Amino acid sequence: MGMQKRAGIIGVGSAVPNRVLTNHDLEKMVDTTDEWIRTMTGIEERRIADEGEATSDYAIRAGRKAIESAGLSPQDIDLIILATFTGDTPLPATACIVQNALGCKGTPAFDLAAGCSGFVYGLATADAFVRSGHYEHVLVIGADLLSRVTNWTDRSTCVLFGDGAGAAVVAPVDEDGGFMAFELGAEGSGAGVLCIPAGGSRHPYTPEDLAAHRDKIYMEGREVFKFAVKIQGEATERVVAKCGLSVEDIDLVVPHQANTRIIESAVNRLGLPMEKFYVNLQKYGNTSAASIPIALDEAVSEGKIKKGDIIVTVGFGAGLTWAAGVMKWVF
Ligand code: ACO
Repeated sequence: MGMQKRAGIIGVGSAVPNRVLTNHDLEKMVDTTDEWIRTMTGIEERRIADEGEATSDYAIRAGRKAIESAGLSPQDIDLIILATFTGDTPLPATACIVQNALGCKGTPAFDLAAGCSGFVYGLATADAFVRSGHYEHVLVIGADLLSRVTNWTDRSTCVLFGDGAGAAVVAPVDEDGGFMAFELGAEGSGAGVLCIPAGGSRHPYTPEDLAAHRDKIYMEGREVFKFAVKIQGEATERVVAKCGLSVEDIDLVVPHQANTRIIESAVNRLGLPMEKFYVNLQKYGNTSAASIPIALDEAVSEGKIKKGDIIVTVGFGAGLTWAAGVMKWVF
């Protein structure tokens, strides 16, 4: 392994809607309270895209910023991977819309479906392509407009989600930096606990489905919560062990931003102080595939991630899937 070329993140960027939806706004929409939402999730507000906007609008902005942050131009990008489950349309891949808008003429582009784990799945895919020498500069984007697939009459889910996009450029880096290990997984027996029941080949929409919101996210919150608590700690421990480190070596964990109580469970399990976990879900809610790259971008701009730091990203979501990565930050 040591002799192989290493890949790492050389630029990051993010984009979120301007429109803010607060917990107090939600009090007027469903039977909930600011107090319940804060206590049970840690979320205070989330961003919601305007009518007529689409996931690619934010993916493009985040992607452009990441390319600039890497000191590159769009022509330098060899491959675009867009992690999303809320594409502009079911066909074609939204990555192709992004590719065209960025001016990356002829660059291969595809969507990746792994729910909230999608961005870290994308980093692992980019790592393999760069280390093998197939591509030099891979743009990995996580973007989702969850407001489009939220059942706004279901108080148990509608308070959780938000819209946004984040991106990273993955490229060859010096031997002592970049990605050190990944841990990807899926447990398909849990497919039914977090899904959009209708609209696919199994069950194309009927008018009854639309009336019953079966075109929107269905979630068994408690089941997902139990899975998340277990896998977040396990995946972090395993990925750190894979590269011969221990959890004490971690400078910052950038976890999927779903719920503060889920993050606190990892704090307890791993025995790390809360300051070692980056949290911004109070501002954005759960933005699915966008949550980790938005958090990475903010942590870098706030000076919480510096060159040489050992960073762990860890996500979990629909599938059920999970993905964790360890990297030594290079800029
Ligand atoms: N306001 C007030 N009360 C509410 C609300 C609300 N918004 N939502 C639910 N409740 C009530 C319930 O009706 C229930 O009342 P009851 O006891 O009278 O029946 C009570 O609060 C407890 O509800 P539970 O759902 O059992 O509470 P739980 O402790 O499981 O917390 C929560 C709910 C916060 C949703 C939690 O399950 C959770 O965070 N789950 C993980 C969610 C998640 O992160 N999913 C995304 C994963 S990633 C992806 O791919 C999208």
